[in-house]
Amino acid sequence: MRFSGRVVIITGGAKGIGAGCAAVFAREGGRVALLDRDSSTAQKLAAQLTSDGPGEVRAWACDVSDPVQIEQAISGVVETWGRIDCLINNAGVHPPATRLEDTKLADVQSLLQINFLSGFAAAKLAVPYLRTSRGTIVNISSMTAVLGQDRSSAYASTKAAQVGFTKSLAIELGPAGIRVNAILPSNIDTPLMREWAATLDDPESALERVAQLQVFGRMGQPEEIGTIALFLATEDSSFITGQAIEAEGGASLDY
Ligand SMILES: NC(=O)c1ccc[n+]([C@@H]2O[C@H](COP(=O)([O-])OP(=O)(O)OC[C@H]3O[C@@H](n4cnc5c(N)ncnc54)[C@H](O)[C@@H]3O)[C@@H](O)[C@H]2O)c1
Repeated sequence: MRFSGRVVIITGGAKGIGAGCAAVFAREGGRVALLDRDSSTAQKLAAQLTSDGPGEVRAWACDVSDPVQIEQAISGVVETWGRIDCLINNAGVHPPATRLEDTKLADVQSLLQINFLSGFAAAKLAVPYLRTSRGTIVNISSMTAVLGQDRSSAYASTKAAQVGFTKSLAIELGPAGIRVNAILPSNIDTPLMREWAATLDDPESALERVAQLQVFGRMGQPEEIGTIALFLATEDSSFITGQAIEAEGGASLDY
């Protein structure tokens, strides 16, 4: 019960890595707020995880590309539970592989809005409450932030922005006892991963190739990222801030 009586906000919490985080925090007794634009999936997950217990999970309909919706959802969480102990900025999308010359600037702007600015806005709104709880922020970035990714310059740039944000905010908020860290996953088996594979000729062999990129010969599971987020959200990691934790199953080794 390492999160009992505490409140975590997870953007994009309905599916994939966000849902994995929700399951882990709920098992540890947390009050978990799912902020997702897919509100029916979020509601179903919230009901399921609450019935599994011991934590309580609720869903707020929220498209994080709209700062007004972020503000309304965070206000709703505070009205309901009265505090925020952790913010997990996880909502994100990965556009299809696109060459620089074919990338539209308007698409880069909207990607930046969803993958980066949403987390910046949510942090601004959550920080007054985190000052009281001496809480934490966890930004879900990506290994592409440090390794790059072919024909994904826009996506990798939004993920790198999250790392710079994490480190700068850790300096600014450290004196207030607020820790800020990022997790950089490699390949995690989520709907996003499977939707990407489905765009290819042979999805099954593509997924197998991706699995083999990790030294374990498999992708990560969403809850494996959730357990790292829990570690970063509790006193277990009390001397860790401003770090970009590479949760990559050894994928970047042996170059
Ligand atoms: N899956 C991977 O291999 C992988 C690797 C590295 C980083 N990541 C990052 O992890 C995060 C989660 O990825 P995932 O694989 O779980 O994706 P996913 O598509 O499986 O799940 C993403 C969730 O976010 C929600 N979402 C998307 N856009 C939203 C918006 N504008 N407003 C509110 N909710 C929104 C979706 O409805 C969904 O519930 C992303 O930031 C992604 O960049 C994923």
